[in-house]
Amino acid sequence: MTDAALLDRIAAAPDLRELEALRVAALGKSGSVTALLKSLGSMDAATRAVEAPKVHALREAVTEALTSRKSALESAQLEGRLATEMLDLSLPAPETPRGTIHPVSQVMDELAEIFADLGFTVAEGPEIETQWYNFTALNMPENHPARAMQDTFYLEPHDGESEPRVLRTHTSPVQIRAGESHGAPIRVIAPGRVYRSDSDATHTPMFHQVEGLVIDKAITLGHLKWTLETFLKAFFERDDVVLRMRPSYFPFTEPSAEVDVGWSLEKGRRVVGGQEGWMEVLGSGMVHPKVIANIGLDPDEWQGFAFGCGIDRLAMLKYGMDDLRAFFDGDIRWLKHYGFRALDVPTLSGGVGA
Ligand code: PHE
Repeated sequence: MTDAALLDRIAAAPDLRELEALRVAALGKSGSVTALLKSLGSMDAATRAVEAPKVHALREAVTEALTSRKSALESAQLEGRLATEMLDLSLPAPETPRGTIHPVSQVMDELAEIFADLGFTVAEGPEIETQWYNFTALNMPENHPARAMQDTFYLEPHDGESEPRVLRTHTSPVQIRAGESHGAPIRVIAPGRVYRSDSDATHTPMFHQVEGLVIDKAITLGHLKWTLETFLKAFFERDDVVLRMRPSYFPFTEPSAEVDVGWSLEKGRRVVGGQEGWMEVLGSGMVHPKVIANIGLDPDEWQGFAFGCGIDRLAMLKYGMDDLRAFFDGDIRWLKHYGFRALDVPTLSGGVGA
């Protein structure tokens, strides 16, 4: 190929790949121009004096032709891309998914609001809990059948730990922790996550509970019943909420009672209020003297009541949801349907569920 033909082909290279092939053919290790450069070494001085300037000029011309074709091809490529990627800023933006307050968070806020009005503060405890707080201090010694009842998740034991920790199976350990740190008298609620190895339409391995604890002097079952009634009426925003207390058993309360709430049918749906039927909403009782002692208080001086209630279930009942699993799917369409706007802050004056 003549020098002129080489330069013409470079100038006409249709794309970057062919241009690169031409560069290798001319300036590569065994390229034609490289060969000419190498041949200079074996020429006698006189010939070299004539040939060298021509060869160097050719190398320069080829290098220059390659560079200019390369930048022409690259800018053509960029322009092509810009043309296809053009953004029409006058078009409406695609709808971006927007989150809302989850019903569980909303219910927790409603609970805090209702109980704050009754003089309760909010307490917290860890979700990874020692067996002392989750079981033993709550009057469930080792080998107590209630430990097995709760489908506990056990963790790998840490170095130097005598027994493995657990994912707390209920919010009741916060009774002990809050009692220890506040002393008596005490009025707290403790909403939070709890874990049990269980999963179907009405059970998820993680769910939410709220614990209530009152310790004071001369506390009776009457205080418990009044508190629960006041709470459930405020929460469901109905005056016709009826409670039924059934004798039950929890190791950490004595006596213990399960609490049912009356429901009635409205437009084919079960709603809380009235008493056409009953459903269980919470467990409760008078704090067991051993638990009072484990908190470090004298059970002859202090009494109390406690209750524990499933928050997800409260939300399902109040907002008419029927599958618990949807709570944890993270599906933005479900949230859109049931979720709350950030400004829907519960207040007692405006209605907690406003
Ligand atoms: N911790 C119990 C449960 O998870 C509920 C409960 C709490 C019962 C406090 C009595 C008193 O089932």
